[in-house]
Amino acid sequence: MTLLAIETSCDETSVAVVRAGRIRSNVVSSQIELHAAYGGVVPELAAREHLRNLIPVTQAALRDAGVEVAELDAVAATQGPGLASALMVGFKAAQAIAFVRRKPFVGIHHHEAHLYSPWISGSPAQARFDEFQPNVSLIVSGGHTMLVHVAAELKHRVLGGTIDDAAGECFDKTGKLMGLAYPAGAEIDRLAGQGNPKAFNFPRPLLNDPNDDFSFSGLKTSVRYFLRDHPRLLDDAQVLGDFGASVQAAIVEVLVTKTIRAAKRLGVRWVTASGGVTCNRALRDELTRVCGRSGLSLRLAEKSLCTDNAAMIGILAERKLLAGAAGDGFDADIMPGWQLA
Ligand code: KG4
Ligand code: ZN
Repeated sequence: MTLLAIETSCDETSVAVVRAGRIRSNVVSSQIELHAAYGGVVPELAAREHLRNLIPVTQAALRDAGVEVAELDAVAATQGPGLASALMVGFKAAQAIAFVRRKPFVGIHHHEAHLYSPWISGSPAQARFDEFQPNVSLIVSGGHTMLVHVAAELKHRVLGGTIDDAAGECFDKTGKLMGLAYPAGAEIDRLAGQGNPKAFNFPRPLLNDPNDDFSFSGLKTSVRYFLRDHPRLLDDAQVLGDFGASVQAAIVEVLVTKTIRAAKRLGVRWVTASGGVTCNRALRDELTRVCGRSGLSLRLAEKSLCTDNAAMIGILAERKLLAGAAGDGFDADIMPGWQLA
């Protein structure tokens, strides 16, 4: 089956072609620079940019894959959650292509797609559903932080999530307080490479709470007050590195501890992680270390598939169609507030 997938839920316009679990192409056009000036994603600008980019990105994805529109067997798009005006662009375009070609259309839950991106590996990238194992999956990005029990393929249950800010949002907001550009996660990661993670002791919110929820707004507030009370602290490059490493260590410790605890409680042997924050080196290293010590196997999404992309949408859509899913009608609409169950 040859499938075209479109992702426009936030600030990445992405189109992929997938065939038999293999990523034939995955073109991602990021709008980060456009939104950086505003310190966050501006929905109206995102939607306009998706409108501008979608056709060239789709042409590039088809060209890279060496596939004609006439060869497509199905079309998929992210249905939610996300910014309504942004989702609408990709979703309606995908429906229109499916309608004209008289092919099945599938609307995909963005987070459900994240759950399977750690199972995509190799070059050329291939979904390894033959290797799938029941797991606890950490989805950690600028908009979301959640733990999901994936008991079997296409069968999952959300264990918990953030009650306020997402982990990526915490990186971005503390980074802003530190004087870094948006989005700050990758820059804190870089600075932390030269810093001492024990130099400052920041709170680890909900670390010892028995549930699977997260909270990061208190950490951000504590950084705000600390910097208010020590105004020139970060003028020193070494202190800036120590500070970034310490903030990062607090976020990573909470994420890793709670993920491993959930996996042990549920008796699964595997942990997976995806989402933009999964690019973070300390998070990758610490998950690897603690899983190893705990006898758990780990699959981290490859960095290119951690951030938002249409390939993961296409991989899941194809899997669903092959499993007998009927697809969605052309009256299906976007679901901006769609919660993963
Ligand atoms: O998945 P993503 O591209 O978009 C969504 O939010 O859905 O994730 C972007 C987030 C931003 O908050 C960014 O700061 C964070 O991921 N991020 C990182 C790193 N790379 C990206 N956070 C920590 N360390 C990184 N290396
Ligand atoms: Zn995402």
